[in-house]
Amino acid sequence: MFWTVFHNLKSPENAGILVRAHVAFGGAQIIVVGNEPWILKRRAQAFSRHLERLCEFIHCPDDDAFFAWCAKAEAQPVAIEIATPPTFLKDYKFRSRPALVVGNEGAGLPQSFLGRCDAIVTVPQFGPVPCLNTAVAGCLAMYEMLRNEHVTRQIRGDAYIVNEEEVRPLMSSRLTCA
Ligand SMILES: C[S@@+](CC[C@H](N)C(=O)[O-])C[C@H]1O[C@@H](n2cnc3c(N)ncnc32)[C@H](O)[C@@H]1O
Repeated sequence: MFWTVFHNLKSPENAGILVRAHVAFGGAQIIVVGNEPWILKRRAQAFSRHLERLCEFIHCPDDDAFFAWCAKAEAQPVAIEIATPPTFLKDYKFRSRPALVVGNEGAGLPQSFLGRCDAIVTVPQFGPVPCLNTAVAGCLAMYEMLRNEHVTRQIRGDAYIVNEEEVRPLMSSRLTCA
């Protein structure tokens, strides 16, 4: 079980990409920390393929609300961020209930937030680029976290098989942190 956490994300495109990957990798709820979620805007949907209809969103207005939610859900907050010294993705052993947090496109994750996480995990880079796109970093973390899982979903041709009952939209897709 895992959660994906958007920490003050700004770009609907990034949100859309992350929603699609989150659903594809079988995530639980998506946690939105910061401003009221803009996730359902049209620009995001070109990238999410409307998969937000299958997601439950939990909105945490600030960091305190997020860490309170983690404690209640027994989730381990794992920041996906560049840090020194780095813990690279391949060396990090994910526990059973990680909440993967990606940061704002401009500012990243603040130090005050990072200091409260269980771990800070860095995606290795090799070329002359200071950092990755937020959605790319998040998707790579999801992949690495699940790479040893046994794949039970069947493939037909060039697509995974999805049953009709799996894609029924949720009635209510928003919650707020207590
Ligand atoms: C574009 S970066 C933030 C900006 C960056 N701090 C800067 O100085 O330009 C946005 C987010 O992408 C994620 N990210 C980007 N590259 C990463 C990497 N190599 N490892 C882990 N996370 C990364 C982090 O979540 C980060 O907060």
